[in-house]
Amino acid sequence: MRVLVIGSGAREHALVAALRRDPEVQAIAAAPGNPGIAQLAEVRPVDPASAEAVVALARDFGADLVVIGPEVPLVLGVADAVRAAGIACFGPSASAARIEGSKAFAKDVMAAAGVRTAHSEIVDHPGELDAALDRFGPTWVVKDDGLAAGKGVVVTTDRSAARDHGAELLEQGHPVLLESFLDGPEVSLFCLVDGETVVPLLPAQDHKRVGDGDTGPNTGGMGAYTPLPWLPAQTVTEIVDDVVKPVAAEMVRRGVPFSGLLYAGLAIGQAGPSVVEFNCRFGDPETQAVLALLDSPLGALLYATATGTLAEAQPPRWKDGAAITVVLAAENYPGRPRTGDVISGTEGTAADAAVLHAGTASREDGALLSAGGRVLNVVATGTDLTEARAHAYERIAAIKLPGSHFRTDIGLAAVEDRISLPARV
Ligand code: GLY
Repeated sequence: MRVLVIGSGAREHALVAALRRDPEVQAIAAAPGNPGIAQLAEVRPVDPASAEAVVALARDFGADLVVIGPEVPLVLGVADAVRAAGIACFGPSASAARIEGSKAFAKDVMAAAGVRTAHSEIVDHPGELDAALDRFGPTWVVKDDGLAAGKGVVVTTDRSAARDHGAELLEQGHPVLLESFLDGPEVSLFCLVDGETVVPLLPAQDHKRVGDGDTGPNTGGMGAYTPLPWLPAQTVTEIVDDVVKPVAAEMVRRGVPFSGLLYAGLAIGQAGPSVVEFNCRFGDPETQAVLALLDSPLGALLYATATGTLAEAQPPRWKDGAAITVVLAAENYPGRPRTGDVISGTEGTAADAAVLHAGTASREDGALLSAGGRVLNVVATGTDLTEARAHAYERIAAIKLPGSHFRTDIGLAAVEDRISLPARV
């Protein structure tokens, strides 16, 4: 199988690394890729959001399967164009990708499917904002209705901060979604979905705030770990049966069947799992940890999903132990990150700690430069979370990037047994 991976972050680096471990995958290309991916696959400078360019590349490369990593090309219909060209594509149609592209659409699907989620209201005009804020909070949850790379969400007990964020979004012409706050530990459950067939991967937990102890602004994700020692297997079954399967069935009923990776972000509260968000693609940085524990061929799973044969595919097998991703971010991330600094200490391989590239570029002289907010990920495994954390933090300490920062507490609350599920009411 020849596979083309679309995207340029650490999630795509992890996908390429996992595809390389699949003996059925003979060749991998990535577009546009990054300097880390270039060590594993042929990289081509193609705009991932251009359906025409992606189809031309897929044809030129002779791809049997195209895997689309980020949400923007999916929402723009790149998967539709690849399928229309007769090439198997892992990723939903533009119509199905609205589950992430429009929070209002996602809410409507959930309501029709009877899936628990936060109460919400859409605000379109600045004049409606104050009255709407009075009907919510504290705590206020203020979201950009469209795509915002994880940074369109403000969760705050400060009404004026909530108001400022809502007003700024409206000024930019973006509808605002106000939501009631969902309490309880958060879970990311990624499911391969092909119509009504749903195959869950390992549950993971992201760390969205920039600072230790969940302080500071939201980011695209500062780290993740899997599996979740505090989450009973029966809760995963409950999420699949009561959340993901009804949503998949509702999408089929509406004539927009989902094909690809449906990411359910949930809070496990007193009433059980409630949906915080759906995404139409692999999550970042959770995927990097989840794939580190995958013990089955990834290409076969993605190809089966893309070709409507997931129900007949071998279910995924998982390695024992735990995996963790720690994100190394540039100075000032998630504001205006500083870029263009030389990075050192990424060389060398260790069996239990890989360095994945997220926002990097190569200089002409071969030096590696920072080129984004989230710059690198260290992905480590261990017999348990304590060991995985030790491997990750030992590896990240050897990386040098001026002004960079990372959270030191990824997975720590789980190790210290500080996460518990609320009693059901
Ligand atoms: N982990 C957050 C995201 O992928 O959107």
